[in-house]
Amino acid sequence: MGLEETVEDKRGLVLVIGATGNVGRNVVSRLSELNVPVRALVHNPDNADLPHGVEIVCGDLSEPETLERDLDGVKTVFLVWPALPVGLAPAVIEVLKRRVSRIVYLSSMGVREERVQQVDPINEFHASIERLIEHSGIGWTFLRASGFASNTLNWSQQIRSDSVVRWPYGEATRSLIHERDIAEVAVRALIDDKHSGAKYVLTGPQALTQIEQVQTIGQVIGRQLRYEEVSPEVMRQQFLIHMPSQMVDGMLNAWAEFVRTPEPVTHTVEEIIGRPAHTYREWVSDHAGAFRA
Ligand SMILES: NC(=O)c1ccc[n+]([C@@H]2O[C@H](COP(=O)([O-])OP(=O)(O)OC[C@H]3O[C@@H](n4cnc5c(N)ncnc54)[C@H](OP(=O)(O)O)[C@@H]3O)[C@@H](O)[C@H]2O)c1
Repeated sequence: MGLEETVEDKRGLVLVIGATGNVGRNVVSRLSELNVPVRALVHNPDNADLPHGVEIVCGDLSEPETLERDLDGVKTVFLVWPALPVGLAPAVIEVLKRRVSRIVYLSSMGVREERVQQVDPINEFHASIERLIEHSGIGWTFLRASGFASNTLNWSQQIRSDSVVRWPYGEATRSLIHERDIAEVAVRALIDDKHSGAKYVLTGPQALTQIEQVQTIGQVIGRQLRYEEVSPEVMRQQFLIHMPSQMVDGMLNAWAEFVRTPEPVTHTVEEIIGRPAHTYREWVSDHAGAFRA
C-alpha cells in the first residue's frame, strides 16, 4: 500500500512540537503535502515561516499548562526535546498522556538501554525521557537518530570566510543523517499505529570521517577546503563560552569515541520508507548555499 493510501486510511490530527527546528519543520511540510491535518506548536508565530495552510499554535514546553489548549482533537504528537531541563519533562508527558494516543519521540542513537546511567548528558536526557514515556502508559515510537548532517552547518562560517575547518578529531567517523529522512520516518510513524512500540535506530547510508565530510563539502561547492586539526583542549575553551561544561565534555568524549569506534550504519530508513537514506553529499547539495562565499 502506498503512503497516500495509508494516509487516507489513518488520517488523524498530528501536533508537531519543535515545528521550527531541523526535523520538525520537515515533518510539518511533509504532513502538509500529504494533506494530513497538522498543528504546529511554535514560540513565536510571526517568525514560524511554515507552509501556507498549516495551523499554528503558540506554546511552551517549559509551561506545560500552555499545551493543554493545543491538544483538542490531536491523535499523535511528534516530540522534540530542546535544550531545556529534563525536570520539566514529567509534567509535559503527564499532559500529553491524558489527551493523545501516541508520542513519536526524537531520541538519539547513543542511548543504551542496558545501562542504568548513560555515558554523556545528552544521551542521559534522551534515556530519561524515553523511560518517562514508556512508563506513562501512552503509546510511543522512538526515533533514535545518528548525528544530524545539519550539525556540519557549524562549519559554514569558517568555510565561507577562510576555506578551512578548524576542529578537533578529524578522524571521528559518523553516519550523518539528512533531517528529511528522519522526518520521512516520523511521518510514517505518526500516521500508522503499526509503528507503535518500535525503537528505530536511524542513520545515513555511509560513515565518513570529519575530514571526509569537509572534502565532500569542497567537492560539492567546487572549492579546495582544508581541515586543520585543533586540540580538544583549545576547542573545549571555545565551546565553554557558549555551552555548559557537561555538554562540552560529552560532545568531545563522543568524538574521541567515534575515532576509536565509528558510528554504525543501519538500513532502517530504507526499510521503513522504501528508498535509501540520502547520502551526506546529497545533504550538502541541498544546503550548498550555506557554504558558498
Ligand atoms: N544534532 C544531532 O546530531 C542529534 C542527534 C540525535 C538526536 N538529536 C536530538 O534532536 C533534538 C533537536 O532536534 P532539531 O535539531 O530538529 O531541533 P532544533 O533545530 O534544535 O530546534 C529546536 C526546536 O524546539 C523548539 N523549542 C525550543 N524551546 C522550546 C520550548 N520551550 N517550548 C517549545 N518548543 C521549543 C524550537 O522552537 P524556536 O525556534 O521557537 O525556539 C525549535 O522548533 C534534540 O533533542 C537533540 O538532542 C540531535
